[in-house]
Amino acid sequence: MILPIYVYGQPVLREIAKPVDLNMEGLDQLIADMYETMKNADGVGIAAPQVGKSLRIVIVDGTDIAEDYPELKDFKRVMINPEITEKSEETADYSEGCLSVPDINCTVTRPKRITVKYINQKRETVTETFDGFGCRMVEHELDHLDGHMFIDRVSQIRRKLIGGKLRKLEARNFRPRYKIK
Ligand code: NI
Repeated sequence: MILPIYVYGQPVLREIAKPVDLNMEGLDQLIADMYETMKNADGVGIAAPQVGKSLRIVIVDGTDIAEDYPELKDFKRVMINPEITEKSEETADYSEGCLSVPDINCTVTRPKRITVKYINQKRETVTETFDGFGCRMVEHELDHLDGHMFIDRVSQIRRKLIGGKLRKLEARNFRPRYKIK
């Protein structure tokens, strides 16, 4: 089921999401709905708070952009209760966008590599190191679980430049391409 995407201004996007109880009823359905919602909106990642659920679940799927980023050919992950266990000192810059912040893109600097411990959809504990654009996708989504958005991580000047657009989003004064809340 396609769920509405919670857009900038919704308090759930600023909450610290709660750890998932693996016996939670409807967990697989929620993951399926998040996936469908992300695909419907042409997204490459989504976090549960973006569909109004304050839970520590993220999905990333780079398979649709593998033409531009060949390393993403099989890059599709469901991460439950993810934790970053290592971050590189080295950083990378990528342009980011977000389904909860439509029509805004900004370059964001983040660690180039991270190691994440998480539970996959088969309920297996996995420790994985990410690099390149896949790492960036994961970093962006994990931020959502702690109430952060990419626009918090841009320069003061850039933030000022997008201020007007953000106010329009908050006022819902724009034309969404997908169902929003
Ligand atoms: Ni996002």
